[in-house]
Amino acid sequence: EQSRQIAQTLAEFQLSKEQLLEVKDRMKTEILKGLGKATHDTATVKMLPTFVRSTPDGTENGDFLALDLGGTNFRVLLVKIRSGKRRTVEMHNKIYAIPLEVMQGTGEELFDHIVHCISDFLDYMGMKNARLPLGFTFSFPCKQTSLDAGILLTWTKGFKATDCEGEDVAGLLREGIKRREEFDLDVVAVVNDTVGTMMTCAYEEPTCEIGLIAGTGSNACYMEEMRNIEMVEGDEGRMCVNMEWGAFGDNGCLDDIRTQYDVAVDELSLNAGKQRYEKMCSGMYLGEIVRNILIDLTKRGFLFRGQISETLKTRGIFETKFLSQIESDRLALLQVRSILQHLGLDSTCDDSIIVKEVCGTVSHRAAQLCGAGMAAVVDKIRENRGLDHLDITVGVDGTLYKLHPHFSKIMHQTVKELAPKCNVSFLLSEDGSGKGAALITAVGCRMRQQEQ
Ligand code: BG6
Ligand code: GLC
Repeated sequence: EQSRQIAQTLAEFQLSKEQLLEVKDRMKTEILKGLGKATHDTATVKMLPTFVRSTPDGTENGDFLALDLGGTNFRVLLVKIRSGKRRTVEMHNKIYAIPLEVMQGTGEELFDHIVHCISDFLDYMGMKNARLPLGFTFSFPCKQTSLDAGILLTWTKGFKATDCEGEDVAGLLREGIKRREEFDLDVVAVVNDTVGTMMTCAYEEPTCEIGLIAGTGSNACYMEEMRNIEMVEGDEGRMCVNMEWGAFGDNGCLDDIRTQYDVAVDELSLNAGKQRYEKMCSGMYLGEIVRNILIDLTKRGFLFRGQISETLKTRGIFETKFLSQIESDRLALLQVRSILQHLGLDSTCDDSIIVKEVCGTVSHRAAQLCGAGMAAVVDKIRENRGLDHLDITVGVDGTLYKLHPHFSKIMHQTVKELAPKCNVSFLLSEDGSGKGAALITAVGCRMRQQEQ
């Protein structure tokens, strides 16, 4: 009886092929709303123009600074790109911490901290006096009207610094640099991490025209036809669109598949009601869904001898790396118990079996949902080009994709099943999005020179 009830709870997370096709269809609908002039303002999937009009062609050249803000790590990078027959990219980087009180303090504190880290990096590289062009990977939704400006629409994930929403983040960075009066930089490009990742991968593999992040957050970008992007003048060629698909479902269109646990996770988050799809498929929230299920199962007496410990009440205990460990096939149950022990949860052998099953169920659904979204994207591109069959590559990054033992496989499988007319290859980004941001900055610098 107990195992029947547990199975019943987890069954809510199991989606049929029909349901997944439905998700794919709804994503397509939201994509069209985001692209259309009349529907854009009220659309939830924003389809933001990036002003990146092509993938790299190997002629990019120069030395650039790049920032990478918004994922697990904040990085400052120096990227040296050399064009020509033997094109090379040399990178130096340093990781810096962003304390929680800075992520959620004032905007001025956040940007002062960022500029402080740049200053430290320039000292470390011995480059304080070079006025380098900079590409700013800023992994949040920004409304861009040019390559070098991006107005933050809303914070997502774990950030909530004041006085930034509605502001141009390139401007906030320039002001921070001015306040410090120590060095000068030329902010040339604001880049979403999906776009940086696509460009990083496209430098090696020209068929890469899609970027995907399955990490702390979830999002994708792709090369859309200019004629379909009604928010930007002109019909010629293509432009990369930052989809901001994390907000899919914010108009209620996924309510029929959201469970009570998804609702609870959303309500306890920093941005209740927003990023509903992201909260079902990205690393920052999967552990929270698991924790909410475990609390419920414990309350019903099926787990931990019915005792809800302080640990289980703690938000954020199940990070992606722990979920990944728990679900690893090579792990004996005894090791699962020791991971739970390490997190402060005393479990019996039976408990550990249930916990592992819960984790597996939640991450399986996440991978399928992400795959359904991607299936909509590849089919859109195929239709754009009037093809019966499309071969395409997706550049991917993110801890969930990289660390989780099953996520990538399930996601690939789902795309294959839901978009059978597309042959989709996934290329893992080895170098992060900083390299792509530098490539975009190189093109931005060249365009500036041509304009002069
Ligand atoms: C990194 C990219 O490799 O992956 C970042 O350089 C990106 O730009 C990140 O935000 C996403 O993964 P996660 O798991 O760190 O959020
Ligand atoms: C969030 C951000 C988005 C970013 C994604 C992955 O969804 O809003 O801009 O690409 O996380 O980091």
